[in-house]
Formats: sequence, C-alpha cells, structure tokens
Amino acid sequence: MDPVTEALDDLHRRISPLKDGEVATYIPQLAHADPDDFGIALTSMAGHRYQAGSADTPFSIQSVSKPFVYALALTDLGPEEMLRRVGAEPSGEAFNAISLEEDTGRPANPMINAGAIATTALVEAPDPAARFARILDCLSAFAGRRLDHDEDVYASEAETGDRNRALAYLMRSAGSLEGDPHTVTDTYFRQCSVRVTAADLAVMAATLAKGGLNPVTGARVVTQDVAVRTLAIMATCGMYDGAGQWLLNVGLPAKSGVSGGLIAVSPGRFGVAIYSPPLDAEGNSVRGVVALTAVSARFQLHLM
Ligand code: DON
Repeated sequence: MDPVTEALDDLHRRISPLKDGEVATYIPQLAHADPDDFGIALTSMAGHRYQAGSADTPFSIQSVSKPFVYALALTDLGPEEMLRRVGAEPSGEAFNAISLEEDTGRPANPMINAGAIATTALVEAPDPAARFARILDCLSAFAGRRLDHDEDVYASEAETGDRNRALAYLMRSAGSLEGDPHTVTDTYFRQCSVRVTAADLAVMAATLAKGGLNPVTGARVVTQDVAVRTLAIMATCGMYDGAGQWLLNVGLPAKSGVSGGLIAVSPGRFGVAIYSPPLDAEGNSVRGVVALTAVSARFQLHLM
C-alpha cells in the first residue's frame, strides 16, 4: 500500500470510534444520514487520488458549495465590485445569524448564509434556471465530473427554509440584495442540494490548491487570483464562529457544511475532504475537525 493511503487508513481507523456530535435535523431530509458514515479523500497536485472509508457515499454539498460559488461570482464581478456587495470579515457569529452591516445591509462575508445567498444572486444569468445551470456547471468543473442535485434534500430545505428567506427579505429591504427573495433562496437551496462525495470534494479542494487548475482534468476552472482570494476568505470565515480556533490548531483554509462535509486546502500541495455527518456546536463535522487537525500536525501543514 502507498504511504498516503496507509496514513488515511490509519487515521480512519483511529477516528471511526469517535461518537460525539449530532446529525443536523433542521433540514428534515438530512436527519436520514448515517452517523457512522465516515470517508476521507485526498487529491494531490499531480492529480493522484487517495481515499479511505466511505469516500464514495453521496451527500448534499450544503455550505461547502459557498467558496466555489463565491469564486464564480467573483469571476463575474471582479474584486472591487464583489467586495462592495459582500464583505470579507469574519462575523464571529453562527452561520445563520443576521450578520449585516448596519447602514448598508451588506453581509459580513460570503461563507455565512446571508452572504452566500447574496453571492448566489450575483452570479450573472438571464434567469434563475440559467443561474442554477451556471452554478452546477461551475461545481462540476471543480469536481471534474458532471454533478446533479438531490431533489428530496432541495424540497426539504425549500419547505423549511424560512430563516434563509427572512435573511433575503432583510437584505432586499436594506438594499443589499436585488431580485425576488423567494426566487433567490430557491436557487441557493438547489445549490446546497448538489450531490457530491468526499472524493469529489477532495478534487474540488485540490483545484483551489492548484490556483484554479483542476489537477485531475487539467481544466482551468478559475484564475489564480480568484483562487487565492477564495482561499483567503475560507481561512478567515470558512469555519464560522470556530474559525479562529481552527486557524490556530489546523492553520489551513477550510469550509464545512451541515451535511457533514469538510474540505481543507494545503496550497500548492493537496486538497483534502472528509464526510462524517455528526456536527459540533458550531455546525462543523466532529470527526472532520479531529481528522484534519491530525493531518495538519502529522504533515506539518500549518501555514504559519
Ligand atoms: O442554508 C442552510 O442552512 C444550509 N443549506 C447550509 C448551511 C451549512 O451547511 C452551514 N454549515 N455548517
């Protein structure tokens, strides 16, 4: 066995017994996840792919979509306009908090729900169907394969997503969101329901690690500048109110999602992804945080 697979297998074996955390239930469909599912995947800059455990189990991408859709909107708008519309400061609050600038209604950053909804709305398209098509194309290009979305997860969130719709209405009333809040959140819910595996997420993370170049397909997905700016936002805001502790302990740009996905990027080296549904109080995968803390220590990945 090659040494990377051996290391991932070893990690998987040591962390599997950890039973802490709760599977998210506020999106009813997510409650069906198996808390014992645990996958680890890693993609190198040469496009080599490694994995352990249930790394081919599909799940909805949820908030792990946010940095990639941010990269798409940033490509459309350019850095100045993007920053004018969505901030780049950690909110220090929960992912679903009303973290809006007092006078302008500008969301704090694109990783919290408010900022992500505003970012989705900024993706250029003639109509909502075309906007989601561009988002799906972009996520697919990062993953290096054609992705689809989970209609049941989408419908489940659309039915229960009043808090996100409320955030969208608040932003529109403050002038920081254009378009119909219902339609915008509908596209955002579809985006969150896109189906991926840990193996897909590792390729997506590796594409950011390689400055926007997909190491498996060889396709340029975004520019180096867009990739760097996206990683910077992930480093400061990707783990929500756990972001400071994360940067202290792990020292890598990362993004988590409520379905249990978690990615981390070691720039110029590799992308790594975890799937394990039980979450901690900040909404980050418990096994994911433990696994990536161990990976960072073992391979001395801390950027600082
Ligand atoms: O908007 C929501 O609440 C979900 N679709 C995504 C939230 C999420 O993944 C937060 N991450 N930990």
